[in-house]
Amino acid sequence: MMISVTVLSLLISAPLGSLVWARAPAGLWDAFNYAPASRVVRPVTVRGVMGSVSGADNLLTGSGMATLGSQGSSVTLDFGIEVGGLISMTLPNSTSSFSLSFTESPQFISTTSSDDSSFPSFDQTFDGILKVSSRAGLWTQPSATLRGGFRFLTIISNVNNLRLSNVTCAISFMPHMEDMRSYAGYFWAKDTSGFHDEDFLTKLWYAGAYTVQTNTVPLNTGRKVPFAGRGTWFNNATLGVDGPIIVDGAKRDRAVWPGDMGIAVPTQFVSTNDLLPTRNALLTMFNGMDSQGALPESGPPLSQKGSDTYHGWTLIGCYNYHLYTGDISTIKNLWTNYTRAVAYLEGKVDRTKGLMNVTGLRDWARLGGGGINAEGNAILYRVLVTASGLANAIGDASLAAAYAKNATNLKQAFNKEFWMDDVGVYRDNSTTTLAPQDANSLAVLFNLTQEENWKARVSQGLTKNWRDLGPEPPELPDTISPFISGFELQAHFEANQPERALDLLHRTWGYMLYTNLSVESTLLEGFTVNGSLYYRSYRGYNYDAAYTSHAHGWSSAPTSTLTTYVLGLSVTQPMGKTWVVGPVFVKGVGESGGVKGGFETPLGSFGVTLQWTLDEDRENVVGVEANIMTPGGTSGEFVVPSVFSGAGVTVSVDGKVVSSTNGRLALTGEQHDVKVVKTG
Ligand SMILES: *[C@@H]1O[C@H](CO)[C@@H](O)[C@H](O)[C@H]1NC(C)=O
Ligand SMILES: *[C@@H]1O[C@H](CO)[C@@H](O)[C@H](O)[C@H]1NC(C)=O
Ligand SMILES: *[C@@H]1O[C@H](CO)[C@@H](O)[C@H](O)[C@H]1NC(C)=O
Ligand SMILES: *[C@@H]1O[C@H](CO)[C@@H](O)[C@H](O)[C@H]1NC(C)=O
Ligand SMILES: *[C@@H]1O[C@H](CO)[C@@H](O)[C@H](O)[C@H]1NC(C)=O
Ligand SMILES: *[C@@H]1O[C@H](CO)[C@@H](O)[C@H](O)[C@H]1NC(C)=O
Ligand SMILES: *[C@@H]1O[C@H](CO)[C@@H](O)[C@H](O)[C@H]1NC(C)=O
Ligand SMILES: *[C@@H]1O[C@H](CO)[C@@H](O)[C@H](O)[C@H]1NC(C)=O
Ligand SMILES: *[C@@H]1O[C@H](CO)[C@@H](O)[C@H](O)[C@H]1NC(C)=O
Ligand SMILES: *[C@@H]1O[C@H](CO)[C@@H](O)[C@H](O)[C@H]1NC(C)=O
Repeated sequence: MMISVTVLSLLISAPLGSLVWARAPAGLWDAFNYAPASRVVRPVTVRGVMGSVSGADNLLTGSGMATLGSQGSSVTLDFGIEVGGLISMTLPNSTSSFSLSFTESPQFISTTSSDDSSFPSFDQTFDGILKVSSRAGLWTQPSATLRGGFRFLTIISNVNNLRLSNVTCAISFMPHMEDMRSYAGYFWAKDTSGFHDEDFLTKLWYAGAYTVQTNTVPLNTGRKVPFAGRGTWFNNATLGVDGPIIVDGAKRDRAVWPGDMGIAVPTQFVSTNDLLPTRNALLTMFNGMDSQGALPESGPPLSQKGSDTYHGWTLIGCYNYHLYTGDISTIKNLWTNYTRAVAYLEGKVDRTKGLMNVTGLRDWARLGGGGINAEGNAILYRVLVTASGLANAIGDASLAAAYAKNATNLKQAFNKEFWMDDVGVYRDNSTTTLAPQDANSLAVLFNLTQEENWKARVSQGLTKNWRDLGPEPPELPDTISPFISGFELQAHFEANQPERALDLLHRTWGYMLYTNLSVESTLLEGFTVNGSLYYRSYRGYNYDAAYTSHAHGWSSAPTSTLTTYVLGLSVTQPMGKTWVVGPVFVKGVGESGGVKGGFETPLGSFGVTLQWTLDEDRENVVGVEANIMTPGGTSGEFVVPSVFSGAGVTVSVDGKVVSSTNGRLALTGEQHDVKVVKTG
């Protein structure tokens, strides 16, 4: 069952013998890739010193000594971006004694405690500092004391005249990738709307990609459970059946969470095309299935149980994994357990209502969620639709039809039970008019809406929750959840409301990427309505703002969303055997310099370059040209952008006029140049 990296790359690259990690074409976008060029990194600035410190700047280079003159003096080093790994330094004295304090947010730079990772504690100083005594020579941090995510390191002297040099961090994440910058995918677009800088969307795409890289970790680097006691932390627990493995966050929890993967894995696909950590995570979840067929909510050593929604996400994750990799043999190995796990959720469907009674209440932290609940049933609908797809791939057409039939029935029951036509949104359950952010976003994204025009109504309805920094979910007040907002973001695109989607990107992700409370390189787990780090502080996090993770893959939705909608590129059959190019025009995006991007699958490279043409006063779109490159032997469709709907257009392919109407255009693989010109 265990499989090595090499075996898997051979396996999933088999069709054309291409390499799994071929590089994206070089271009302007490379300047925005956050991943370090080396697996060993040095601090880039001295953030500050306390007490008598000389030569601190020497710590930014490989040579030269710093001296912390008096006991208690300290130097805070800034690595410039989120990093994670083991610290080393060279110590000349026969003995040295010092302490290390780590933090992601600069808000928690301290000589007495790191930010929190072991446990959320009201005093915000649970983790404490790492005390070190070392003999002369090169000291390396013990592996069990790994900090998986931090940007700032404070070194505190416990003696007079501590001398040190050559401070480095050996990156622990992406252990299987020598060149962490070697992405398979890329994205570039100027945002001239004026809300943020013009490179905002490109930076954001790469911030999401880097976030997921920091969450891709070696097998034996999980947070210890039971949690380490006060004043310490340990990250040496085993995370699953094999590594590398994808976890929720760099600093914490450092465990597999399948709901998070619903966002993080599409990011991984369009950026690194490195699905081995996802395979290991899925195998881990099925390995933890219980005798009733229930899947765990999280991977070991946390191994939380009792979540019907996260159970559903593991099943949806199998479909996504297969769609991206074409690795049917992994699905076949899991098939008995997979079908049992679908049946486990189907067994909760109430016969009279035709909807699941959610009894496994654990979820993304939202309140309520039990009983005949809309979010749980939206997820079950997606489970059934994707189960039908996988059953077809396995070759069981009758099972596929049975899943599809149940999906159709569920959709009907969902609309009957939850739709509030007077307000144009779905309710949480039949005893409330609360319209949750999660179910409404998922209903649009998963196409649960009974009428196509309900999508725009729900999209509009969701804006009632909007505050300055993004949507405040009524199901978890005083929170901004970039996880659920990632589904909302996609929902606005599905509802053909691209300017609203851009507005949401600016508010929520603009804040996350640029606030100096965070690391300005990876994406926060969440925050409060006023922008503070007290994310879900009243909901399990003990009012500990230092516990919030600053590198959470579940916040990376813009990466896949920009590729899917703004570039317009997505796969519709495993590995992109069939694909779609359906770009969406967003006012202010790609008007200057176009939109460029692509990704790779085991079948080869996919790339699109879009050039929008505007009229003289730059108000209206009058045309678009798309250069499309896809692997030979594949086929796909170009969808004439909806910005042209209602207008006459001429569509040409490779210089030949093929149609003068809106619609979808069939294309074969390899290079094509599609032009759409407005005629009236
Ligand atoms: C400096 O640190 C690097 C990385 O840990 C190490 O390989 C090297 O040996 C160190 N140099 C000295 C002189 O200790
Ligand atoms: C380290 O060595 C230097 C130079 O020999 C000396 O001045 C200093 O006091 C020593 N520090 C400690 C803590 O022993
Ligand atoms: C993790 O490290 C701690 C401290 O060194 C040790 O006590 C514990 O046994 C280790 N756990 C594992 C699973 O290796
Ligand atoms: C299937 O589930 C059982 C528990 O019911 C588990 O022991 C086994 O490892 C799982 N098989 C796979 C391939 O994950
Ligand atoms: C859902 O299941 C719970 C627990 O079994 C039960 O108490 C409740 O009545 C059920 N709700 C519905 C609407 O069937
Ligand atoms: C129904 O929804 C409301 C609002 O979210 C919630 O307070 C209540 O707990 C839900 N009912 C159940 C059975 O979970
Ligand atoms: C479809 O739903 C029915 C009724 O809830 C259930 O008995 C059946 O097992 C479901 N079929 C599948 C393939 O899940
Ligand atoms: C959404 O569902 C409707 C049926 O309600 C179907 O006609 C339509 O094709 C679906 N859209 C997509 C994108 O699957
Ligand atoms: C963070 O930014 C605010 C303004 O947005 C500024 O007042 C503050 O000084 C900055 N803090 C740091 C530590 O740079
Ligand atoms: C921001 O919100 C948090 C959580 O509600 C609260 O603790 C904090 O006092 C607020 N900060 C400001 C500046 O209002």
